[in-house]
Amino acid sequence: MTDKKVLIEQAKNILKRNDVDGYTVPTHDLYPFQWNWDAAITALGWMKVDESRAWLEIEMLLKGQWENGMVPHIIFHKPVDTYFPGPDVWGVKNDIPTTAISQPPVLVSVVKMMSEQATDKGLAESKLAEMLPKLIAYHQWWYNDRDPENTGLVVSYHPWESGMDNSPAWDESLAAVPPVNYTYKRKDLDHVDSDERPHAEQYDRYLYLVDFFKNSNFDSEVIYKNCPYKVYDLGIISILHKATKDLIYLCKQSNTNEQEVTWFNEQLALTEKGINTLWSNEHNSFLNKDVITQKLSPVLTTGTMLVIYAELASAEQMNALKPLLNEWLNETKYCMSSTYAKCEAFEPQRYWRGPVWLHINWMIALGADSYGLSEESAKLKSDSEELLTKFGYFEYFNSETGVGCGGDDFSWTAAIALHWFL
Ligand code: GLC
Repeated sequence: MTDKKVLIEQAKNILKRNDVDGYTVPTHDLYPFQWNWDAAITALGWMKVDESRAWLEIEMLLKGQWENGMVPHIIFHKPVDTYFPGPDVWGVKNDIPTTAISQPPVLVSVVKMMSEQATDKGLAESKLAEMLPKLIAYHQWWYNDRDPENTGLVVSYHPWESGMDNSPAWDESLAAVPPVNYTYKRKDLDHVDSDERPHAEQYDRYLYLVDFFKNSNFDSEVIYKNCPYKVYDLGIISILHKATKDLIYLCKQSNTNEQEVTWFNEQLALTEKGINTLWSNEHNSFLNKDVITQKLSPVLTTGTMLVIYAELASAEQMNALKPLLNEWLNETKYCMSSTYAKCEAFEPQRYWRGPVWLHINWMIALGADSYGLSEESAKLKSDSEELLTKFGYFEYFNSETGVGCGGDDFSWTAAIALHWFL
């Protein structure tokens, strides 16, 4: 077998090994449940293995959807004791226990890609028809629940919701959250080296927020008013914006939901206006913002660059962003570091503070393509391919050395490789 064939077989086997009765764990032990954006990305990989299994991944994720439309960040389908905090700590009493926050909503964009790629069009059409009302409810939830004042910018309540858990962009906002005053045992450190994981001070505050949601009875109004952590996260805002465009496309294609389409178009227009309040001339970039202090975070992260994935940057803003993107791509041996290496907080091996994540590279490459930046897009792809080929199917990669970090045999890394370059 050629090397490429071997890599393809390995990726397919990772998905199969991580399959637990219809949903895929990101990796066993460290993340033993179904995660929201992992499930979406992983379904793209399953499309190359078994289309009906790919649709099942999304159906399983939607089983955890709340009555108010939210699709949670973790669905605890079955009890497993290698992860903390589990369902008892979150305290959500639904039939299928879940967490009480969501994650970057790449789901609808993936469903659109799946329906376009499907060879079994009949299956795709019937699955899509079943799912569409649920996908609409999910996006309605984002705008209604997280932007009740119609600013065009949805708010996020937990660093875990960003999917970029310990990104330095959240440091200041998280530091303002009180720590919990009880002791607990983290389980991530049983599986991964502590210098690749978040610090204890951060964990104490992650847990405070989990308790806060529970003590607020998961009441949206109470949380919006009193949550001690509220940020405009450009990753979520951009991924939502792109996915809403895809949702409108899906509705139009099926000639349904005209009223919803009008309403979603209004939301898009609000975001296209609101996003400019996050632009910084000083940094020549969009920046995340703390909604409580109204301060922009000066740290450049791949979240800030995801704006191009949503095509939310104007021509003028793009002129300013392009040199930054190029410097960023060349600043570390492997691109694209999750934190720009010229920022003080950059750490090449620590989780979301500097390593490379392949699914983020893929989204930024799509954004670069949409602005005609084919060289930048090609570099993102070739670096991703090199990382995978040299170092394997890790959760993420050290941006200076390339060495794989975090969990091994990781589902979204296998899936993105199958979908993007293998
Ligand atoms: C970590 C990541 C998050 C991911 C999850 C499962 O929490 O930060 O983005 O969804 O692991 O892979």
